[in-house]
Parts: sequence; structure tokens; C-alpha cells
Amino acid sequence: MATSGWTLTENASLLALNTFHVQAQAAQLLEIQDSATLPDALALPSVAEGPLLVLGSGSNVLLAGDVQGTVLVFANQGIDILEHRADYTVVRAAAGVNWHKLVLWSLQHGLSGLENLALIPGTVGASPIQNIGAYGVQVGEFIQTVEAWDRDAGQWVRLDTEQCAFGYRDSVFKQQPERYLITAVELRLPLLHALRMDYAGIAEELQAQGIDTPSAVDVANAVIAIRRRKLPDPDVLGNAGSFFKNPILGVDQVEVLLQSFPELPVYPAEREDQRKVSAAWMIEHCGWKGFREGDAGVAPSHALVLVNHGNASGAELLALARRISASVLETFSVAIEPEPRLIGAQW
Ligand code: FAD
Ligand code: EPU
Repeated sequence: MATSGWTLTENASLLALNTFHVQAQAAQLLEIQDSATLPDALALPSVAEGPLLVLGSGSNVLLAGDVQGTVLVFANQGIDILEHRADYTVVRAAAGVNWHKLVLWSLQHGLSGLENLALIPGTVGASPIQNIGAYGVQVGEFIQTVEAWDRDAGQWVRLDTEQCAFGYRDSVFKQQPERYLITAVELRLPLLHALRMDYAGIAEELQAQGIDTPSAVDVANAVIAIRRRKLPDPDVLGNAGSFFKNPILGVDQVEVLLQSFPELPVYPAEREDQRKVSAAWMIEHCGWKGFREGDAGVAPSHALVLVNHGNASGAELLALARRISASVLETFSVAIEPEPRLIGAQW
């Protein structure tokens, strides 16, 4: 079924809609081209009666089985300048826009801020969900407003930064996954911005490229180069990026850990009395890096990345994740938690 604003397909394959490339079916797939038609599409009896799951590019989900009900995908496009000021510009991007495309667009327009977030897979609409972050920057620093359909209230809402409640890989949208359908994001991007090059690897990469006074574009290119070295390309080897979040621990617990494991990388956390520790290091220390059983494995280039070598099922990948987390718990007494949303399973 199709109108000018949306299309509805029954029995749709989700293979191309998850970067783990696991096989799964959706009872129906609703693709929204024009977000203004969203309330009408949601009111269709076959959509309104069953469960609803939103997917962007599926780069942060693990499908543990087939999906009941409707999978909703935003295909709405468009990047617009809403406001030009002397020192910043407000940009509105539709949920269906590819995230990296927005980063490149912002750099081409002389705007900065998003350079450290280059090459993160996924859509603009998903970027606030876990407050995407990389190389010392999180998108929440630049988001001014999130436009969404509030399913609880049955109305359009505009959430400001405070209402979004951004944290490390966290937001109000992640806390209430059934509530908001994000249709657009508005970002306030500075024209001049102090570049962030303190995250390990960026300064070294720029130096190796012979760049002394880098621009935002240079920083983006350095980040892209590092990411290509470290993270497997999902088009070549199915994965969802970091499978586990870096655990946030109290300073006392970290001190105890460092006595036994002085090499464990430790980073500041949002709270002064807490620290973030490297899950990748702990997983590598437990011997999992490059592990493979059947088609489920751990990337040889990064211990935090679970990979599908071909035909692994979501259930097999989840079983491997559970074994990894159990061994980290046994060795370090630290519980690590998945970053991707598990669909059809509980952690
Ligand atoms: P999906 O995976 O489709 O969905 C993720 C979640 O958001 C789901 O809960 C879904 O229901 C919800 N959602 C999606 N769109 C909407 C919407 N419009 N409205 C409401 N809910 C929605 N993440 C980082 O933070 N930093 C990184 O450096 C990083 N690197 C990665 C590298 C690789 C190789 C891969 C595969 C992933 C990486 N990720 C990283 C994770 C991923 O790219 C991000 O989480 C991204 O924002 C997910 O976008 P998506 O469109 O694929 O969302
Ligand atoms: N490390 C290991 N073994 C490995 C990989 C890393 O010991 O196989 C150690 C190294 O000491 C390294 C440290 O871990 O210096 C940190 O590694 P990296 O810079 O790759 O960062 P990360 O903590 O593993 C986080 C994010 C990534 C993000 C990078 C860069 C989380 C869960 N992951 O990874 O985000 O790209 O920092 O900022 O916070 C994602 O969320 O999907 C993702 C890829």
C-alpha cells in the first residue's frame, strides 16, 4: 500500500536494515517519506493494533528474531539552514538523512563542531537516541531541538537540550524507547570552534599527515582514517560498532582494580566521583579479541566489536556476548552492558 507520504509492505526482510546483517522478517514495514503524514500512517488499523519498532539504518540494534508488528523507517530527507548568526548557524536535518552526510554538509558550509563525529553510521533521527559520541565529542553538545511525535500524548513535541537529558550513550529517548518518534533534529553549529584533538590518536594522525595547523576538515579526515583502521566496515563484516558500553564505576572500585590491573585505561566520567573504564581492554585481557565460533566472533581489530562472519543469527551473537560479559565479570568483578538495543530479547 502506498500514498504520496508513506509506503506499507507486508512480510519485509530486515537483512538490509541491520548492519549485523542477520536474517529477520518484519510482519510489515512502514516507510515514511513525508513526516507530516506520520499521524495518519500510525492510525492505519494494521499499524495501530500491533507493536511498533523504529529503525534508522539498524547500526545499533541486534535482532534476536523476527519482529512482530510494524517496523517504521524514516526516509524523509532535507537539510536546511534555519538561522544565520555572526558566530553560529542553526541547521535542521530530517530524521532520514544519513549522519555522515550531515557532517560533510556542515563542513562544506564552513560550520564546525561535528568533525569528531565523522563516519558514524546511521541516521540523523537516531543520533539523539544514544547521544552519539566519538573522539571526545557528543552530539548533545550541538543539539538545540529534537522534533518528535509523542506517542503517549498523541501530539507533536519539540524537546530542548535539557528535556533530552543527554548522558554517555543515554537520553530520554533511550530511557523511554516506545514514546518518541523523532522526525527532525535542529543543531546549533559554531562558525569558529576550538578543535578537540586531545583524544588519543588524533594529534598523532595529524602529525603523521604533516598537518601543523589543522582545520575542522583535517580533524574529520584524521578521525575517518583512525576509524577505518580500527573498526570493521559493516558492508564487509557485519557489526554494530561497540557491542558493550564502557562501564562507569566509582573511584574507589577503580582504585582497587588498578592495583591488580595497572594497565587498565581509565577516563573521566560525567560525575566527579566516577570513572569510565575501557571495556575493550578488559575483553582483550580475557582473550576474546579475534575469537570466532561458527560465524559469530569478535573483531581482530577491536575487542569491543562483535562481528557476523556470514550467517550468524542474532541469538548466536547474543550468546557470545553473554559469554564475554560473564568472563569479564569473573575476572574484573565488573558488569558490562550492551550498547545496541536488543530486539526480541532481554539482557
Ligand atoms: P538504529 O540502529 O536503526 O536504531 C537505534 C535505536 O534508535 C533503536 O532503539 C531505534 O528504535 C531508535 N531510533 C532510530 N531512529 C529513530 C527515530 N527516528 N525516532 C525514534 N527512535 C529511533 N555510535 C556512537 O555513538 N559512536 C561511534 O563512534 C559509533 N561507531 C559505530 C561504528 C560502526 C562500524 C557501527 C556499525 C556503529 C557505530 N555506532 C557508534 C553505533 C551507531 O552508529 C549509532 O548508534 C547510530 O546513531 C545508530 O543509527 P541508526 O540510524 O542505525 O539507528
Ligand atoms: N583497547 C584495547 N583493545 C582493543 C581496543 C581498544 O585494549 O581491542 C583499549 C586501548 O587502550 C584504547 C582504548 O581501549 O586506547 C580505547 O579504545 P578506542 O579509542 O577504540 O575507544 P573505545 O572506548 O573502545 C569508544 C566508543 C566508540 C568510539 C570510540 C572513539 C563506547 C562504547 N565506544 O570506544 O564508539 O568510536 O570510543 O571515541 O563508548 C560505538 O559506540 O559503537 C563506538 C564505536
